[in-house]
Amino acid sequence: MRLCIIGTGYVGLVAGACFAEVGHNVICVDNDEAKVKLLKSGGIPIYEPGLEELVKRNTSNGRLSFTSSIPEGVAKSDVVFIAVPTPPLPDGSVDLSFIEKVAREIAGCLTSYKIIVDKSTVPVKTGEKVAETIKRYCKTKVEFDVVSNPEFMREGSAVSDFLHPDRIVIGVSTPRPVKRMKEIYAQFNAPILVTNINSAELIKHASNSFLALKISYINAISAICEAAGANVQEVAKGMGLDKRIGPDFLQPSLGFGGSCLPKDVMAFIKIAEDLGYDFTLLKEVQRINAAQMDRFIKKINETLWVIKDKKIGVLGLTFKKNTDDVRMSPAIELCQRLLKAGAKLRVFDPKGMEKAKAILKDVEYVDDMNKVPEGCDALVIATEWDEFKQLDLEHARKTMLCPIIFDGRNLFDPAEMEEKGFIYKSIGR
Ligand code: UDX
Repeated sequence: MRLCIIGTGYVGLVAGACFAEVGHNVICVDNDEAKVKLLKSGGIPIYEPGLEELVKRNTSNGRLSFTSSIPEGVAKSDVVFIAVPTPPLPDGSVDLSFIEKVAREIAGCLTSYKIIVDKSTVPVKTGEKVAETIKRYCKTKVEFDVVSNPEFMREGSAVSDFLHPDRIVIGVSTPRPVKRMKEIYAQFNAPILVTNINSAELIKHASNSFLALKISYINAISAICEAAGANVQEVAKGMGLDKRIGPDFLQPSLGFGGSCLPKDVMAFIKIAEDLGYDFTLLKEVQRINAAQMDRFIKKINETLWVIKDKKIGVLGLTFKKNTDDVRMSPAIELCQRLLKAGAKLRVFDPKGMEKAKAILKDVEYVDDMNKVPEGCDALVIATEWDEFKQLDLEHARKTMLCPIIFDGRNLFDPAEMEEKGFIYKSIGR
């Protein structure tokens, strides 16, 4: 099928490349000319495992192309996906101006029946607004359908998540677009759930908020474990073996971050409020998330006594492993708070240093993780990159001023670390 994807951010670019990979003809549109130029030349603007190869292969076999023109994209396709950003506004609500602008632009160039699919995460009832807008701005009387098709991929495993989803949700207001939507996903081995548009939109916010709730729950349990002398990893394992709970998203941390969960929880609270429901449970999820970082910093403070003028090494700047994304990263927040307390930081991240440099100034960027601990009063692990498990601990212990490690991701075994001569503080153990 001929597909157009408007927006080449994480969702749009991964969707475009994966749809091309399964055999569709895809034209990706972005209004950022420099990005389009980069993509046309075979480069990609983000790090995402497997994505570069996919983009290269499908660009060279002719199934994937890029343009900055919405009219060109719409003219060359049967189904148009909207995958533009929906960033937060200061009051917690969602900025839908990009969606609205794209809807107007699509309306301006509709000359034959198209299915317009919203893939961006949007508040419930946005589909209705998109349909109204297109109708209002369409110059001729052209038939179209609006569909909600939320995306559940995670950064760091986006390609694999997209190609092997747990479910595909298709929200429609009439049966007309269902057959074509199912054809688009014919190659995917996943259950397809057809709902009304409002339900599909709600499924996305309800799912992401539930994941955030699960993380806050285990982070709260980690605080109780510390106070009780229990081990949160054992508790999580015991909980996760219950099929009704499941083992995923029970990893305690410095709190959830990234460009989705914090924003979506905030938006869902606002959406609920606008609908007359006070979602106090989600407000508590936010509170626990913030408290988790506070508890970790308190731990650093209590151990070092004074943070001012201490040299602290930090491993990890991205919001999780396997990405270069540092937006709303707990690791960056941690660095900023340590800097504010007067610490001097030596930092390293396998993929996130370039993007971090734009927001994190006045720190020493080190190009090798094993050099980070040298001369430090303490080392902090903030992101769970697999390679950090290979850290040369012997070299760290010998070259640090004090062998103190604060592990915000529980990468090491506490007993082994103590045996190796470290003062080792992790989460919930
Ligand atoms: C999330 C949703 O998982 C995905 O379905 C949706 O499409 C987009 O939002 P993403 O933001 O890429 O995906 O990352 P995710 O893997 O959900 O992690 C979010 C944050 O939670 C990270 O900071 C991560 O470190 C943290 N996390 C995750 C935990 O602290 N513990 C866990 O057990 C899992």
